[in-house]
Amino acid sequence: MKENESSSSTGFEVAPKPDTLVHSLRAFGYKLTTAIADIVDNSIAAGAKNVWIEFIWRGPESSVSIIDDGHGMNPEKLTEAMRLGTMSPLETRESRDLGRFGLGMKTASFSQCRRLVVASKTKEGEVSTRCWDLDVITEKASWYLLSRVPDGSLFASSKLCELESGTIVYWEKLDRVTADNNDDTKNNERDFFLLIEAVEKHLSMVFHRFIERGNLNIWINAGKIVPWNPFIETLDATQKLPEETISFRGERLRVMPFVLPHHSKLSGDEFEKASGINGWNGQQGFYLYRNRRLIIAGDWFGLFKKEEHYKLARIAIEIPNNLDFEWQIDIRKSKAMIPLEIRNEIRQIARKTRESAVRVYRFRGKSISRVKDSSESFVWNVHAKHGRKDYRINRHHPIVKELIDEPDSKRVQSVLRLIEESVPVQLMKSGISETEASDVPTYTVEELKELFHLFVKKLQQNGNISTREIENIWNIEPFCWYKNDGEIRGKIVNV
Ligand SMILES: Nc1ncnc2c1ncn2[C@@H]1O[C@H](COP(=O)(O)OP(=O)(O)OP(=O)(O)O)[C@@H](O)[C@H]1O
Ligand SMILES: [Mg+2]
Repeated sequence: MKENESSSSTGFEVAPKPDTLVHSLRAFGYKLTTAIADIVDNSIAAGAKNVWIEFIWRGPESSVSIIDDGHGMNPEKLTEAMRLGTMSPLETRESRDLGRFGLGMKTASFSQCRRLVVASKTKEGEVSTRCWDLDVITEKASWYLLSRVPDGSLFASSKLCELESGTIVYWEKLDRVTADNNDDTKNNERDFFLLIEAVEKHLSMVFHRFIERGNLNIWINAGKIVPWNPFIETLDATQKLPEETISFRGERLRVMPFVLPHHSKLSGDEFEKASGINGWNGQQGFYLYRNRRLIIAGDWFGLFKKEEHYKLARIAIEIPNNLDFEWQIDIRKSKAMIPLEIRNEIRQIARKTRESAVRVYRFRGKSISRVKDSSESFVWNVHAKHGRKDYRINRHHPIVKELIDEPDSKRVQSVLRLIEESVPVQLMKSGISETEASDVPTYTVEELKELFHLFVKKLQQNGNISTREIENIWNIEPFCWYKNDGEIRGKIVNV
């Protein structure tokens, strides 16, 4: 109906233009990694135990297939699955379903290619095939779904014959993957294979919970993906802090904080592997799991900044799929926001975790060595008197001792007393939880180096100094804070 046809109606239909809309739908911001993960979500929801991903390089005729052995779809279901918006985001989904918008398979595919072929078979039926070709949609200016593979396509459904049931998602005319490349050059081929590596890393992270439990195998060009666990839970040195549960809209969300081991406790290989796709600093923060599928991998959701001192803090949060709206899950399943009502609760848990993480990062080990080491080690001693704690500067600490041995020691003693009497204990206590940074020494490597060498020189005045004596310096504050930090230690010792 046209605008001027009826004066009695209150409106009229203005349908989207398929030939233009379909190109806008390509710009949802997927990368190859997130697009493939979106397709694998569907395989998992279909009960697949195996997913085979095949990248075939043929220059402009290159292709990507994602094949699964899930329950598959009959012809009617397949046609419906190809529809954009096949299911409303408002509908209640089965608890293991990883979908929400009824769009992912199409939008993820269109973001990478101009031709999407989907073939599927159920236990009871034959293989059926459907195809969206963006060039056909553009040419016909209509959502014209092809019911067979177009001429010239290199799609083959042979793998489905070997399976009792399953689905193939096949991408060709990969203009967004093999960008600007109508020429079959070596350079593009190398880029194509580099992308495979990125996909492998992404999937090993996003689906690690499924792979670890033995529920799922993912293969890329015949190589099996090994899961990447962000918390290296199998290592004893990883601190698993007490799990907390948060009640929200009738659901109980599990929050599991981890403090990863200090790097001196990891082999070079373990350290490298645990650093993850974005490196140690980038991977700190929350890990949001929706039905065991990782949505966010290392983000403080705007509550804190990512800082070096906190890089060992990683916190898992598990949410079900019926809170997608509250968490503002996006179509790509790679963005989310903490609901306002539980932001404070989550912030508190993160604070505690970050405090533990900064202690491990600095590896000061004060509480352990206070008991074991000689009285020389610490600058401060704590005395309990009438139920009150007094903080006294240790006169036996070598650096302090040197000062009070000087001729003018009376003045030094009175300054020490003044400092002791004015320690702002209450202020410091409240400061700790507010800033969280009180446990972070602010010595620069240069300052430490200077102090260390002064110290060594002093000892050398009494004759040659042994390796055991040098080692003992590492039991004294401030050096003991860095005793197990190979990197800083190396910098301090090297003149
Ligand atoms: N590999 C598959 N095996 C069986 N059914 C599938 C498969 N892939 C897709 N489907 C069916 O097609 C439907 C549409 O998939 P699509 O990814 O477009 O949307 P969704 O998964 O419902 O939601 P979302 O947009 O959040 O991904 C699915 O709900 C499912 O029923
Ligand atoms: Mg989906």
